[in-house]
Amino acid sequence: MVAISIKRGKALSAYSQQSFKQFHFAMLVLVMFTIALIYSFYDPMKPAILQCYIDKLSGSKIPEHLQRLDDVLLAERQPTPGRTIFFLETSCPNPKMQTQPIGLTVRQACAIESAALHNPSYDVFLLYASPRYMDKKAEYPILDAILSYPNVHMRNADLWAFTKDSPVEKWFNGAELFKSIYLTAHLSDFFRLLTLWHFGGTYLDMDTLTLRSMESMPLNFVGLETNISINNAVLNVSPIGYGHEIAHKWLLEFQRNFSGTLWPHNGPGVITKVMRRACCTRKVLELENNPDCCNGFHVYDKNAFYAINWMELQNFFEEKYLDSMLEKTNTSYLIHLWNIVSKFKTLKTESEAPYTVLARVNCPKAYAAAGEYF
Ligand SMILES: *[C@@H]1O[C@H](CO)[C@@H](O)[C@H](O)[C@H]1NC(C)=O
Ligand SMILES: *[C@@H]1O[C@H](CO)[C@@H](O)[C@H](O)[C@H]1NC(C)=O
Ligand SMILES: *[C@@H]1O[C@H](CO)[C@@H](O)[C@H](O)[C@H]1NC(C)=O
Repeated sequence: MVAISIKRGKALSAYSQQSFKQFHFAMLVLVMFTIALIYSFYDPMKPAILQCYIDKLSGSKIPEHLQRLDDVLLAERQPTPGRTIFFLETSCPNPKMQTQPIGLTVRQACAIESAALHNPSYDVFLLYASPRYMDKKAEYPILDAILSYPNVHMRNADLWAFTKDSPVEKWFNGAELFKSIYLTAHLSDFFRLLTLWHFGGTYLDMDTLTLRSMESMPLNFVGLETNISINNAVLNVSPIGYGHEIAHKWLLEFQRNFSGTLWPHNGPGVITKVMRRACCTRKVLELENNPDCCNGFHVYDKNAFYAINWMELQNFFEEKYLDSMLEKTNTSYLIHLWNIVSKFKTLKTESEAPYTVLARVNCPKAYAAAGEYF
């Protein structure tokens, strides 16, 4: 009995030495495979998500039931330089799908409608960064609401064609942007600067609600969000001259110190930094309503666009604050709704909260197309 087990023990240890080597080898292969996998994932030229922004049907036949939106640079009807309000949608609904569907929430439609309603002599363009297709058989009541305004247009934008011959072409082609962990937001930060560099005019976030006309405001303005920061939810530049120069500087600053891991860094951070450098003082609060300090470029006070800061946004969704919120925004051109906070707050359509009360007046058609909730 004893002899047998000793023999067995020897056999076992020889076997385990052999298997230990095999194990080593297997581990080595596994590690190399993992490194290769990670590398292929981080290959700067091919982040998987990037594919979502390339038109997979380009050059091939479009299925009968689909219709591609016109491209902004190719369509006959172009944005009027300096007299266009731009909204941008930079999300990727489903990277696995061959084509991305048109989609818009009722609140986004409300942002677009209120801008179109109050600025009838301006064009309003909604640009999609990932190529979108409409299903000819589907119904789009929310889109119909905004497209009933003759000044509203929807387009696809090919990001590579859009960056071509711009100051950020080379940087963009390096695909650094697509490695951002906040891709939708950072792409939006980038795309708005590029759009204004191309056409001039106004950029508005899709989480705004326009209350009055901006048509008579002189070109070239931004707005203070706090005493030390200029936000990028509202930007306006002239298509040529000083405003265009500022847009150029915003783009260069964006690429100079881009960070794919810091959320507000590439947005308000870029705008604030450039204005501090371009104006007569580095103290942000001293830029307020002081265009002489910025070569005519107007930095509006908080009330113009950001009267409700994100910490009190809650009140905009509560009926008991109706009067105080209306008073607070009485001189505002628009209200910025901080989607990152407000998207979690639903309202019944018939509610008398400040938001629904103002939406009913400023985006009547989108409001009517909303279902039970706004
Ligand atoms: C911002 O500046 C104004 C005017 O100087 C001041 O009254 C206010 O307290 C400041 N706000 C903050 C949060 O520092
Ligand atoms: C670049 O951004 C980093 C934060 O990512 C900041 O700490 C640094 O000061 C910036 N550099 C310059 C030159 O602006
Ligand atoms: C601002 O308040 C005045 C006086 O209460 C009112 O007549 C006016 O309609 C208000 N304007 C806006 C845009 O709410």
